[in-house]
Amino acid sequence: MKAVVCKAFGIPKSLVMEEISSPIAKPDEVVINVFACGVNFPDLLIIQNKYQFKPDLPFSPGGEVSGIIETVGDKVNHLKAGDRVVALCGWGGFAEQVVVKANRVFPMPPEMDFINGACTLYTYGTSYHALKDRAQLKSGETLLVLGAAGGVGLAAVELGKVMGATVIAAASSKEKLNTCKEKGADHLINYSEEDLRARLKEITQEKGVDVIYDAVGGKLAEQALRSIAWKGRYLVVGFTTGEIPQFPANLPLLKGCSIVGVFWGSFAEREPQQSLQNLGELLSWMKSGKIKQHIHKVYSLEEAPQALEDLMNRKVIGKAVVKIRSWKEEAVPSPKVDSVKERKIDQIIAKPLKIKLTDIKKQVGQTLGVSDWFTVTQDIINEFAHATQDNQWIHVDVDRAKAQMPGGKTIAHGYLTMSLAAKFFYELIEIEGARTAINYGLNKARFPVAVQSGSRIRMTGKIVNVEDMPNNGIKLFVECTIQIEGEEKPAFVGELLTALY
Ligand SMILES: NC(=O)c1ccc[n+]([C@@H]2O[C@H](COP(=O)([O-])OP(=O)(O)OC[C@H]3O[C@@H](n4cnc5c(N)ncnc54)[C@H](OP(=O)(O)O)[C@@H]3O)[C@@H](O)[C@H]2O)c1
Repeated sequence: MKAVVCKAFGIPKSLVMEEISSPIAKPDEVVINVFACGVNFPDLLIIQNKYQFKPDLPFSPGGEVSGIIETVGDKVNHLKAGDRVVALCGWGGFAEQVVVKANRVFPMPPEMDFINGACTLYTYGTSYHALKDRAQLKSGETLLVLGAAGGVGLAAVELGKVMGATVIAAASSKEKLNTCKEKGADHLINYSEEDLRARLKEITQEKGVDVIYDAVGGKLAEQALRSIAWKGRYLVVGFTTGEIPQFPANLPLLKGCSIVGVFWGSFAEREPQQSLQNLGELLSWMKSGKIKQHIHKVYSLEEAPQALEDLMNRKVIGKAVVKIRSWKEEAVPSPKVDSVKERKIDQIIAKPLKIKLTDIKKQVGQTLGVSDWFTVTQDIINEFAHATQDNQWIHVDVDRAKAQMPGGKTIAHGYLTMSLAAKFFYELIEIEGARTAINYGLNKARFPVAVQSGSRIRMTGKIVNVEDMPNNGIKLFVECTIQIEGEEKPAFVGELLTALY
């Protein structure tokens, strides 16, 4: 197969195009026929032996791909040959085939094309994790993005707007800043011509910026930190300038601010449920058109070194993508991702308690642990309101809620919170030997505290009773408590009734 290969560490021009042997999948791996590969800054670092991961020479760079599965290893049961997928391979993507651990491969949403599939996970995944989980960016706050027209930077600009922030985009040229403006940035700073601190003072009327997203490091870092607001959050994302900033410790003291590290790859591995939840939220924004990748240019496989060269020379705005093979979209099979398969992936990751149907009666009193967190977004509330025709303003009118509701936010329908008990149930328990599990009722349902839009909730469970049913069925009673993050009283308490056959 054809591949662009790094045979000796160096600059992009030292990469060579070669014919190499095709990879073979180990039991927990899959081989993907690569259609497209995103170009990310770590590809530049990895070929120069400056990245935290150091593959043995020779290797192909290219860490994020889209394509179709060719073969799967013996132990892989949630993916199959022919599936359209996106994958975080780390390296190996500038080649016609790549081998990847199956847990780093995800079904590509049917509405996504291969070019977008190859350059979306990494940038939006990183920036959403940074803004949501690390900075806890709130609507109405100010967000400064340094290197705002780069891959992760432009994603941060878009997401900042979707999350309700006032976004200040800072970049090195007018052309780059124009793209940031198109993506919704409220204020623009050209840091190759303007004084960053003076402009920030002027824009924030001396208050300072609440959240700083820094993917560049270098000289701008300290200037930005000196312009942070009281209780601000400074996100350490990357150092494209090649200079890791050193901050005087009196700055966070004086500003009462936090310097917060962001490591998306580690987050996705350590907190897979939360990461999947984030990706689900990003996908729903992509589907509704709220966010859309900016594709700078599509390069051929032969041009992959040039793509990296352009990235190195700060010529790329948004994302560069390498198209590995030609295809006609209509000729590529486009299987719908069915919900059963999605749930199966969730189950593998959440590791629910496995109980045999034949042993279930011995399990009365068994605690089922706790599910992962789930964010009740305004989008989810709107979808529920639409489906149930319950459109009361307290649920759907964000502006009126801001003015009239305690806390200034809409609240989720109680029945929406309750309905999520079934989703959480599958994260807590897996009954081996049951052909069907029907969640058909709820006992003693109560809603002590309302769930505000944007809150994170999770569920604990306990088996409290088991009864026989006609036709060899078993009725399972699980006491469920849905908690809200940071809130003492629960959002929902009730007994979920499940018929098992
Ligand atoms: N922490 C994490 O989890 C995580 C995840 C993904 C990426 N990252 C890091 O985030 C950084 C950005 O990645 P990316 O893929 O978005 O890169 P990118 O598309 O190349 O964007 C980086 C931006 O940095 C600016 N820059 C300043 N000095 C530069 C230089 N000497 N060379 C190249 N660019 C320079 C450029 O903007 P101007 O020309 O406007 O200054 C450029 O647009 C990288 O350091 C990457 O390793 C971190």
